[in-house]
Amino acid sequence: MYDVYKIRKDFPVFLNNKTVYLDNAATTYKPQVVIDAVTDYLSKETANSGRGDYRDAYLVDKRVDETRILVKKFINSKYAEEIVFTQGTTASLNMIAVCYGEKFLKANDEILISIAEHSSNTLPWVEVARKTGAKIIYMPLTEDGLITPKLVKEHMTKKTKIVSLVHVSNVLGYVNDVKKIAKVVHDMGAIIVVDGAQSVPHLPVDVQDMNIDFLAFSGHKMLAPTGIGILYGKKHLLEKMDPYQMGGGMNISYDKEGNYELFKVPHRFEAGTLNIEAIYGLHAAIEYLNKIGMDNIAKHEHKLRRYAVAKLKEMDHVILYNENAETGIITFNIKGVFSQDIATYLNSKNVAVRSGQHCAKFIKEYIGEIGTVRASLYLYTTKEEIDTFLKAVETSENYLDAYF
Ligand SMILES: Cc1ncc(COP(=O)(O)O)c(C=O)c1O
Repeated sequence: MYDVYKIRKDFPVFLNNKTVYLDNAATTYKPQVVIDAVTDYLSKETANSGRGDYRDAYLVDKRVDETRILVKKFINSKYAEEIVFTQGTTASLNMIAVCYGEKFLKANDEILISIAEHSSNTLPWVEVARKTGAKIIYMPLTEDGLITPKLVKEHMTKKTKIVSLVHVSNVLGYVNDVKKIAKVVHDMGAIIVVDGAQSVPHLPVDVQDMNIDFLAFSGHKMLAPTGIGILYGKKHLLEKMDPYQMGGGMNISYDKEGNYELFKVPHRFEAGTLNIEAIYGLHAAIEYLNKIGMDNIAKHEHKLRRYAVAKLKEMDHVILYNENAETGIITFNIKGVFSQDIATYLNSKNVAVRSGQHCAKFIKEYIGEIGTVRASLYLYTTKEEIDTFLKAVETSENYLDAYF
């Protein structure tokens, strides 16, 4: 039985902070086990990784290796070597764009992305296109706000080399059928990159089943500390890429003539000291998520969302943009009111939501509005919190200058 009240006891922030936190797509609260894991590294066994020959260094190496294996299992990759530690989704996507895109794209090749992409899955490609002469093709969404296999097929040509898409949009919350899209992309001879920032924390994700080439996601959106993320890449693709950061911890040898030999993947992509305390935290976060079960988390968010959406639909002053999304993202506006004003009003009722463009600057072409308000739920969100949110949205009609 999913017991949200029991889950909340694991999060010390709820003792100290009474905010109704509905900005989980931006970042999440951390359970005590994650805080303890970070503290253990800082207070009990601090050492660098991959360098020392003493007991604590060995313990740290062991935990880093164990975390890689835990991530491998979490997303069901074939090999642990396919898991690269980065600083987050943005860093992972930049690494793919630079280390794969810049190496393999030529002038007039095409990179297919959608108008729902986050800046972090747009600007790295803009830069690669600028440097290589490749072209970005921006795909619209279907009427239902989705990226479908059919749509992808219609926008691919013989020149398409890379298709880079969001699994779950951070604005609309719809789950794109990445497995079927990957088949279309591969049949046309291209590779598929998936932005999993909003899917991996909320749904079971299986990279082998989906047969995707790359996946990027962030620890801080799934209970872990900031500054740690994952780049998953198929081993044979990672092996073809050159690192874009050079330094300690990734080389075997080098000489004054400029020759060098690098470690195998994934270590060649991890120059410099890793964010080790965040890796400790990520380990604890994944164990915690596994204990609750990703299926159960998805069901909890979906159930609460359905409840909220049914109530919002009864409010005439509310415009909903993603009524049927399967995840915990609710995007709306109040008729005639600027989204930031709505968020500021909700803040006065102690409800934290996000407003504006949500770093997806072209999605306005689908939504028809520059700014929206986004409430995003997670495994610890309660029905009572949703009721507080609904009450605030309901009363906003009286307070905000709607219908002008
Ligand atoms: C869909 C999507 N992609 C990428 C990112 C960037 O993630 P990060 O800031 O952790 O690198 C986010 C963060 O909001 C996101 O929602």
